[in-house]
Amino acid sequence: MGSEQINYLRISVTDRCNLRCSYCRPDNIHFLPYDHFLRYEEIRDIVEVFAEYGLKKVRITGGEPLLRRDIHVLVGMISEIEGIKDISMTTNGILIPKYGKLLKERGLKRLNISLDSLREERFRKLTGGHLKDVLRGIDEAKRLGFDPIKINVVLIKDFNEDEVEDFILFGKKWDLHIRFIELMPVGFLEFFDHSKVVHLSEIKRRIEEKFGKLKPVSLISSGASRDYLIESLSVHVGFISPMSLPFCEGCKKLRLTSDGRLKFCLRGSDEINIKDILRKRGKEGLRNEMENILEMKRASNIKVAEKGFIFEETGKSMISIGG
Ligand code: 5AD
Ligand code: SF4
Repeated sequence: MGSEQINYLRISVTDRCNLRCSYCRPDNIHFLPYDHFLRYEEIRDIVEVFAEYGLKKVRITGGEPLLRRDIHVLVGMISEIEGIKDISMTTNGILIPKYGKLLKERGLKRLNISLDSLREERFRKLTGGHLKDVLRGIDEAKRLGFDPIKINVVLIKDFNEDEVEDFILFGKKWDLHIRFIELMPVGFLEFFDHSKVVHLSEIKRRIEEKFGKLKPVSLISSGASRDYLIESLSVHVGFISPMSLPFCEGCKKLRLTSDGRLKFCLRGSDEINIKDILRKRGKEGLRNEMENILEMKRASNIKVAEKGFIFEETGKSMISIGG
């Protein structure tokens, strides 16, 4: 049945965001009309069919997923699907005080919160928002008992690479996992400058110099993160290195965009319009398409490797794909 082919699905539920991180979205972005979004029932049907083919882990993303109305209802629907063992969300954290409790009640366990600077001024410059709103969100997430809470930090040269140690101490103080991410040239490559990439091997060395031994550990994750425990502090730190150490081999990850396209890989543009299949041919039609979809994923993995794991210019920004 090819159940080895998918085990992880990232579902983007909206392309809207209440921040505007400059690496994630162009200023002149055109948002999708709301009626283009997949409905929750449609997302549930997709996850149910995928679960028959080995899907176990689901992550809800955006844009900012908490901007989609009644997102806790979707969380509840997905957590009830047989075979789904892990459901998590990536958010900028701002709306957790408003919706965190509902999410918890509906079965969400893990949260990843994106936060690229601990300095108010820098945070505002990058995102247009206020750092204290995110800190309040993290505080509330802790209070509600989400565990683990991972902080995603995209490192950008000459911008926040001097905050690595601060983030580790922040992780210690609040009992959070810290994950450093290499900036990826997704979408509009004109916004991307290779000289902005910080290689994480360098950062790992710096952390070891300052805080001592890093012990490799295996945590629940998409597999993209190389995770360690900083023994002297008991802080978990992860490195996601799409640029310097691609983690694509044997990839079983798929992405569903908010308007219902299934993307096989962030590095390329191969996709299939799954909303069309579902709306024209129903859930059974999607089932009949699954062998084809698995074959497309296999082909995508081969193509990406043959091209040397480069990021192709796709003309789609991260916010419209789903981070
Ligand atoms: N490179 C690396 N990470 C990115 N994210 C968004 N765009 C990029 C990019 N170009 C991150 C966000 C968030 C996660 C969903 O993806 O910061 O943490
Ligand atoms: Fe919003 Fe996340 Fe993109 Fe920033 S990176 S604009 S928080 S979706």
